[in-house]
Amino acid sequence: PAGAQEAASTLGFRGLPHGTGDGEAVAEGHEVQVVMRWGDPVLPGAPAFDPARQTAEAQALQFGYNNDYLDFFPLPRGDAASEHGLLVVNHEYTNPELMFAGLGDARAARRGTSEAQFRVELMAHGASVVEIRREDGRWKPVAGSAMNRRITGETEMRISGPAAGHERLRTSADPSGTRVRGTLNNCAGGNTPWGTVLIAEENFNYYFGGAGVETGPQAAAFKRYGFVRDAQYTWYRFDPRFDVAREPNEPNRFGWVVEFDPYDPQSVPVKRTALGRFKHEGCTHAVSADGRVVLYMGDDERFDYVYKFVTARAWNRQDPAANRDLLDEGTLYAARFHDDGSMEWLPLVHGQGPLNAANGFHSQGDVLIEARRAADLLGATPMDRPEDVEANPVNGRVYVMLTNNTSRRDGRTDAANPRASNAHGHVIEMIPPRVAGGVDHAALTGRWEVFLMAGQPGTAPGASYHRAVGAEAGWLSCPDNCAFDSKGRIWISTDGAPTAAKVADGLYAADTDGEGRALTRRFYAAPSGAEVCGPLIGPGDRTVFLAIQHPGEEAGSRFDAPSTRWPDFEEGMPPRPAVIAIVKKDGGMIGG
Ligand code: FEO
Ligand code: CA
Ligand code: CA
Ligand code: CA
Repeated sequence: PAGAQEAASTLGFRGLPHGTGDGEAVAEGHEVQVVMRWGDPVLPGAPAFDPARQTAEAQALQFGYNNDYLDFFPLPRGDAASEHGLLVVNHEYTNPELMFAGLGDARAARRGTSEAQFRVELMAHGASVVEIRREDGRWKPVAGSAMNRRITGETEMRISGPAAGHERLRTSADPSGTRVRGTLNNCAGGNTPWGTVLIAEENFNYYFGGAGVETGPQAAAFKRYGFVRDAQYTWYRFDPRFDVAREPNEPNRFGWVVEFDPYDPQSVPVKRTALGRFKHEGCTHAVSADGRVVLYMGDDERFDYVYKFVTARAWNRQDPAANRDLLDEGTLYAARFHDDGSMEWLPLVHGQGPLNAANGFHSQGDVLIEARRAADLLGATPMDRPEDVEANPVNGRVYVMLTNNTSRRDGRTDAANPRASNAHGHVIEMIPPRVAGGVDHAALTGRWEVFLMAGQPGTAPGASYHRAVGAEAGWLSCPDNCAFDSKGRIWISTDGAPTAAKVADGLYAADTDGEGRALTRRFYAAPSGAEVCGPLIGPGDRTVFLAIQHPGEEAGSRFDAPSTRWPDFEEGMPPRPAVIAIVKKDGGMIGG
């Protein structure tokens, strides 16, 4: 069977077998380079990382925690082949049990952090921009770059679009409802054709708590987004803006997609409310045949939806200023998948269908602030946790990573979510119509197919990879993020495989068409406790960048006794989330 797999696929590397131990591993002929670690200096004056002496001031100048989305903006601008550019990195969340000594396990640590530690955590969230360059084959940060930037939980940003200024976005610190401090839980992301980056706020409910969550006029709305009184982070002990009883509207200012210009360290990030408020996994773009820009988004929750946003106007290649606020005008849609393989996009537009005053929607702002409830009323299809949604630039199909959902009981399955207990997840292809000039990503109807049903063939019920033979060696579990190389092959990273399938999370590649379609092959295996995020295919397909998130995040693992000390392996040094670059030792193209 392994021989048949080798013959069918266009991939030029030998897949890593499962069961190779619990350390990091990469396919033969490749090399792992650590590019940036939590605590590494980003801005001038940053001290060297010292886990015993962490301060908010130092962390604000250093690389943040739990790197997730990765992007690369070349220097000089527009030079797609350049191995010099700006690495953009999201810092999704923090693990205080692994960051600080003496706090105990994860649950105890989130309740036992001091105010000083909370301030470090707030600064460890957000994003980093780091100028990097490949020299003598190695990727390294450019020391002292004036283009570097840290965005944190305190960075001033603007709120724009139809919900800006809405009364539910007004707080005592911002009576205008148009300015907000910080961005939190930025998971995956995307970018625009005009060279800005989009970072997506995901589990924003973790940060706001207190008795106010369950009382008051917004209690039902908070519940739909998973807010609970006993929030995961107990930051409301230290800062009243995280206490819902004190600032009942602050939670409404999170859960958005944030746009910023990575080439301008002074640019003010903007929360684009037209794209809706939900647990955004990512936000990737495709240009429709008529020049309008389409942003594909997943809402990562069991039984939540796939969305897309279509700009009102085509983007302007000649005049960058004309695109500055393009994401403020357009239409948000939620997906309905029919069992016959057709699909439709349902508009979230105030005044249309059930999105009216009788249902509590008095404006488009209301619809966007409660996008989930609007999509419920429209009859969107509840999915098995939509993570990355991304268009393949070669075949024009749009891939939806559905990571898992074991809460779907019999009777609630459908053709697009066929497993009653989906421990391993699956990948769906959405197929927009082709028209003269390209793919009509803006279309209101289309078709869909299953690309793969994850899990080990022969063991996991329903596991399927187009041809059963290939994935016997390279099967995967819990797809989360994806990327495409220049040949249109898909690269899928996983989150949750240690729990679901007793194998390390990793990175897998597969053809999307032809004999090797969906025959995934394992390329990289993560260190203990880590998930793999990113993935970013670098310039000329010569590098794959990965964000190794939460190494050592396992039951019982903590600062004082971590399950791994990756990537430094030094006594006293905790595990450190880090961005790695994988290159081929002979300098060739990744994937062959
Ligand atoms: Fe942050 Fe959906 O993973
Ligand atoms: Ca994710
Ligand atoms: Ca995930
Ligand atoms: Ca994660």
